[in-house]
Amino acid sequence: MWYRHLVSPAALPSAVLLVAWAALACEVGGAVAGSTSQPQLVQPFRPAQVPSRLRHALKGGLEARGTPAPFSNCTGSGRVSEQFPPNFLFGAATAAYQIEGAWNESGRGPSVWDTLTHTHPELVVDGATGDRAADSYHRYTSDVGVLASVGFNFYRFSISWSRLLPRGDPSSLNNAAVEYYNALIDELLANGIEPVVTMLHYDLPQYLQNLGGFASPLIVEYFRQYADVLFRTFGDRVKVWITHNEPYDFCVEGYGTGRSGPLVYATGVGEYLCAHHVLLSHAAAFHHYEENYLETQSGVIGLTLSGRFYYPAGNDTPPAVAERAIEFQIGWFADPLFGPDGNYPATMIADIGENSMREGRVTSRLPTFTDEQRRALRGSCDFFAYNYYSSRLAALASDDYDPTVLPSWARDARIIQSVDPGWPRAKSTWLYVVPEGLRGILNWFRTRYANPRVLITENGFSDDGQLQDTGRIDYYRGHLRALLAAINEDGCRVVGYTAWSIIDNFEWLRGYSEKFGLFYVNFSSPTLERVPKQSAGFMSQVISTRTVPST
Ligand SMILES: *[C@@H]1O[C@H](CO)[C@@H](O)[C@H](O)[C@H]1NC(C)=O
Ligand SMILES: *[C@@H]1O[C@H](CO)[C@@H](O)[C@H](O)[C@H]1NC(C)=O
Ligand SMILES: *[C@@H]1O[C@H](CO)[C@@H](O)[C@H](O)[C@H]1NC(C)=O
Repeated sequence: MWYRHLVSPAALPSAVLLVAWAALACEVGGAVAGSTSQPQLVQPFRPAQVPSRLRHALKGGLEARGTPAPFSNCTGSGRVSEQFPPNFLFGAATAAYQIEGAWNESGRGPSVWDTLTHTHPELVVDGATGDRAADSYHRYTSDVGVLASVGFNFYRFSISWSRLLPRGDPSSLNNAAVEYYNALIDELLANGIEPVVTMLHYDLPQYLQNLGGFASPLIVEYFRQYADVLFRTFGDRVKVWITHNEPYDFCVEGYGTGRSGPLVYATGVGEYLCAHHVLLSHAAAFHHYEENYLETQSGVIGLTLSGRFYYPAGNDTPPAVAERAIEFQIGWFADPLFGPDGNYPATMIADIGENSMREGRVTSRLPTFTDEQRRALRGSCDFFAYNYYSSRLAALASDDYDPTVLPSWARDARIIQSVDPGWPRAKSTWLYVVPEGLRGILNWFRTRYANPRVLITENGFSDDGQLQDTGRIDYYRGHLRALLAAINEDGCRVVGYTAWSIIDNFEWLRGYSEKFGLFYVNFSSPTLERVPKQSAGFMSQVISTRTVPST
């Protein structure tokens, strides 16, 4: 999940198109076609074949890779529009640092979030840490149990890079971590739940941060080698991979403003370097899989983006301003991956280049891709992975750009964000409830990127953790209805939905003061028992009826 600062202007971007798909989203998702025998792998017990309904829904046949399919309007087929399509799948998500705990056990190395919470407790509400969190390292069977009790089809969790490779590179492979993730994956499969693995969810090994982290091009090769370990070790059973989580957030706040992990203050430069190397490391992992594992493992790979939908702030605000806001936030990452030329949005290239010149620089603060890099980026996602939480109104800052003031992503974007007074708010100060924004952004993906297959990898609501969580139920009801309209009325090819989160957990700088779980975790109890909230029952009903109950 995520953190976001409330005040600042937001801007966002856009992107382009994509490559791989053949079967229509409305077609059946049966067993996996093609080669699924697994030759490699070190583990003793493995099922001979791991069918993945989600992989199938996200990518049709393997032969489809690189072949755009024609747009399909699924509503013509007589489907009842209040129902989710037959092969639509539901899951729930977590991230390693937010739930695992066991921060110093069994050979785990420190990550940037251990460093942040231990050396800057004043930055976290109540000085909280993820040292123990929900203790999922020891209680993963409880997590799988509650996922199964709701009826979820898949579980999106992240692997702790610093647990698996404490120094970041394969020479430091930690067998205890291999055993832990093997046990978790096998427990999921034994319960009929597909694993969806995020390779990195904010918690970069501190060892690699010491080498510059995502500000340095070194990270691209480290990430490729890490991905190789993941594919080789877990790829016989994991068929859906997410390379990165919400790079907009950790690049802007972690490498620009320096307000969140890894606390690098390099405003106006660091966030663009971070984004650049996130994208290149993603493409490196994607092509490494394609060349070495795709034939035997037949999995799919995406990158989870975050970003709001933006509405023009007033009748006198041109729609282009809202468009610009989305381009600066989402298009920044999605244009290189899904767009026609593997490059950043033209608005960003032009404006950041011009601002840089006015500051007296000889090159743009926005780095440039080589032709080869653009070819590698373009189409390097099998599907569009996206986290939706909120929307904003956008206006354009009217003052002239002042080159004598420190640059920043926000000053380049020039978007003034505001909210509609009618939007309810969650416990989190940034989380205004705008369900129709989900439909809006899904349609923006559909038109800008030629209707890619979409997996919603997070969506959720924060409160104090009460069991009667009617605010969360209202949030899910509204967003699932907006999602149904996007699928059944607009023809958006969304194939799965992920709730954030299955259990209460460490909410980054907000510590344990904002809860997102469908299950309550008693953090003051030695057994950290997971207790169902009312929303868990609601979600269970959605999954079993494939509709959104009105009460
Ligand atoms: C691990 O960290 C805990 C605090 O979270 C501490 O009490 C314990 O002594 C540490 N264990 C080791 C082996 O360093
Ligand atoms: C899909 O088909 C329905 C019914 O024929 C139509 O009303 C709707 O506009 C179509 N959607 C798109 C995006 O073409
Ligand atoms: C949490 O656990 C503590 C210690 O076992 C217990 O006293 C408390 O009542 C529990 N709180 C809830 C809400 O269950």
